[in-house]
This record gives sequence, structure tokens and C-alpha cells, in this order.
Amino acid sequence: MNVIRVRGPVRLAGTTYVSGSKNAVLPIMAASILAPGTHYIENVPFLVDVVNMAQILHDLGIDTYWVDSKPVEIEEAGRLGPHVIRRTQRHPAWSGYPDWRTPGDGMIEINVGDIVSDTASYEAVSRMRASISVLGPLVARVGHARVSMPGGCVIGPRPVDLHLKGLRTLGAKVELQGGFIEASAAGLQGDRIYLGGPRGSTVLGTATVMSTACLAEGVTVIEHAAQEPEVVELATFLRNAGARISGDGTHRIIVEGVSSLHSAHHRVIPDRIEAGTLACAAVATGGEILIENARFDHLFALWDRLQSAGAFIDEVGGATMVRGQKRPQATDVSTFPYPGFPTDLQAQMAGVLVRAEGTSVITDRVFPERFWYAPEMTRLGARIRVEIPSATVQGTDRLWGAEVAARDLRGAAALVIAALSAEGETVIRDGGHLYRGYEDLPSQLKFLGADISVEGVSGDVEDSL
Ligand code: EPZ
Repeated sequence: MNVIRVRGPVRLAGTTYVSGSKNAVLPIMAASILAPGTHYIENVPFLVDVVNMAQILHDLGIDTYWVDSKPVEIEEAGRLGPHVIRRTQRHPAWSGYPDWRTPGDGMIEINVGDIVSDTASYEAVSRMRASISVLGPLVARVGHARVSMPGGCVIGPRPVDLHLKGLRTLGAKVELQGGFIEASAAGLQGDRIYLGGPRGSTVLGTATVMSTACLAEGVTVIEHAAQEPEVVELATFLRNAGARISGDGTHRIIVEGVSSLHSAHHRVIPDRIEAGTLACAAVATGGEILIENARFDHLFALWDRLQSAGAFIDEVGGATMVRGQKRPQATDVSTFPYPGFPTDLQAQMAGVLVRAEGTSVITDRVFPERFWYAPEMTRLGARIRVEIPSATVQGTDRLWGAEVAARDLRGAAALVIAALSAEGETVIRDGGHLYRGYEDLPSQLKFLGADISVEGVSGDVEDSL
């Protein structure tokens, strides 16, 4: 059982950094299936979900290694432009982390040769929803794929109907057999596809169609595409691999199919959700932090809500300054697809507003049921009433430490944030969830002055699975 202990109240202060983006890396790893060769991805965070994706690729015959970030001589150096990478040691990523890892400086090498299997198992997919991202690339590369239907999860139902609609429109035959998605295509034909769903567009659905369309015959136009920065990251990686994609970052993406793709080299953007989580922790504690390498332009919706809660936010020479008031002001939050307020920061914002002066209403229009953290926060003295798709938060100026339980990644981060401003000790059970999406949030917070410790969670994969 892994436990995180937080003693408060504390006021965070100091300078911190942000790791590479989890939600950019995972679709890029899956899309590498499309392109035989050796790919290098820099600024990859040491996360459980990266190991999970490496395990899925390993089962398909694709081996991913952590490499230290020295340059290595590679015969395709010319193909990768002037950048030369020297590898002096490597570690199989599907078996965990190297003991020589330096958080914030991960690099992976993905060796894509022949595909030896077309199946992503129920066990793998049930562990990580992003596994669905291998479906389209497998169909495009080898003509068939068998991927377990992802179940629901604690944040609510996770349908994939839009992914399947996209594949069918490109000419794939898609059936559901015994809990598996069976997809096959003798050849793929570009077409126009509308990806708007009941709650806006779909991030991984856009990734699925954009990746698959790279090897389809002719032109594909994706209408109502997701505009998240992570979609732009994937498009950039695919262009580096020879794909012809334009319009990424807008609601309309155009893909001109090509006959094949090749090795690519890519450096991943900083994780905007990690940056936003650190900013919420600073504001919740009335602290002042400088985030060295956050992409300020990726978080305008969060800056708007934090300023409405009384915080001072500024971009200072490439870094982001975040300063909270002694006690936040109440404000309302509604989540939407990018560039709206991210659903992945909704719980962390609750961690701020539970101590605000006044009453706030948080509405999640992307995952309406994403409020399981609320009853856990009430154990700290928070006053939250959930009526799906909203939570009404009546701010209180004092919270008290208690024992709580984490059930998913972002909810776990929210409980840590609330605990930082609670008086006394909070014990967070199942704290290992954090390490699915944060390299080492407890250490980052400790460096900013938090009194936080972890037990049974070494940050190694075994402890966190
Ligand atoms: C991605 O999930 C992220 N995960 C999620 O982050 C994030 O919360 C989500 O996008 C929304 O921003 C990764 O990138 C690995 P969606 P994804 O398809 O793509 C509905 C985290 O904490 N929908 O954009 O699976 C769906 O039910 C994770 O890092 C359909 O109706 O989310 C939801 O209401 C959690 N049909 C909405 O669209 C479909 O076929 C958005 O889902 C697909 C989705």
C-alpha cells in the first residue's frame, strides 16, 4: 500500500520546473508503429504510463529503451537533420526505469521493425485508456488490429465510438467481438470525417484518425478536430517522419496520404497539466512560485480562473510567476475542450476553492462525473455538494488533516493540494496513482517547502501499478 503523508498548513515558495508532457508522449509512442526505423524522443517523463505503453509496443514487437541523453552516432543522422545523439547506455523501457535516471531529462529510443502481433490485451488496455491509440496505426501499418475495448474508469464512461467512426470512414472493417475491437483494411482511402461528439471533439480520437490517415490513399479532412497542444505535438512528430499534415491546432486538419514514413526525432513540450497543478498548489497555499519552463500560452484558461480567484500571474522572461493571496476568492469554473479550461485541472482547482472566501460552482462538461475526489475532500472539512455535472464548493477558511484515499491521477493531485493548506497531517492512501502522470510531484512540492513524504512508493513502476 503506498501512502503519501502531508503536514500543513504550508506556504509554497521557490522555483520549480515541469517535465515533458505525458499526453503528448503516449500518442507519439503509439504512432511510431506507422514508421519503420529508429525514433528518438527527448524530454520524456519517467512515468508509469510511459512504461505501460512501452509494454504494449513490446508485445507488438517494437522495443523502446530509455537512453541517456548524450548524443549517439546514427547512420540516418542526415535524415534527422544536424542533431546527433550519442547513446552511452540504455535500459528496456517496458521493464521499468533505469537506476541512472534524471527526472526531467528522459529520452527514449523506439526501434520499429516488423510487427509480430496485432493485439493489445484486455489487461494492458484496462490499465491505460491511451492504449486505444495503437488501433489505428496497426490497421494502417499491417492491415489488421485486435484491441480490447477500454472499460470505463473512475472519471466516467470512456467511449471510443468516434475512433471507430473515423476508421470505418477511412475504409476499415470494424467489429466488436468478445470485448475486443477487431479492425481490418486491405487499403485505406482518405475521406472527410466529422469528429464532434456529445461533449465536443475527442483528443485521442483525433490522434487515431490523423495517424491512420497518414498512410491512406488520397486526402483526409478531419472536421471538428481536437485542438489540444498534444495533437499539434503528434502532428509535428508525424511530419518529422514524412507525413503531410496541416491545420493541426485548428478545428480542421488535412492529411495527404503517403506511401510510407521513416525515422523521426522529436523533443516533447512541457506538460501543461503538471504546470497547472503546481500553479494551483501555489495559489491554494497563498504561496509564490516561479515555474521555469511552463508554456505560458498553453494555460490561458487556467490563468484566467486563478486571477479570478485573486492570484497574480505573470510571464517573466520565459518563466511563469504565480502568487496567491492569503485566502483565495471564490470563482466559477466550467471545463471545455482546448482552449477552454482543461478537465484535467478541474479537481486541482477544487483544491484551491475549498478554502476560498465565498461559494464557487465547478462544472465539468467533458467528464461530467469527474468528482469522486469531493467526498474525500469533505473528510478534510471541505464543504462540497456534487450534483452531476457540477460541484458547489462553499469555501471554508480552515481545513483539518485526515486520512483519505486516492482513486485516480488528477484526483490524487487535488487531495495533495487540499492537504497542503490543511492543519495537521493528512494521510493519502493509494498515492501511487500520482506516478502515472507526474514524475515526482511530492519531491517538487518538498523543494518548494512542503512537508510531504511517501511510503512504499519509491516512484518505481512496481510500487505504482
Ligand atoms: C485525453 O483523453 C486525455 N488523455 C485525458 O487526460 C483528457 O482528460 C481528455 O483527453 C480530455 O482532454 C490522454 O491524452 C492520454 P476525449 P481522451 O476522447 O482522448 C467523449 C489525464 O488525466 N468521447 O477527448 O480519451 C468522452 O466520453 C487524462 O491525463 C466520445 O463520446 O478523451 C468525453 O466526454 C484523463 N466518443 C469527451 O468525448 C469517443 O469516441 C472527451 O474525451 C471519444 C470520446
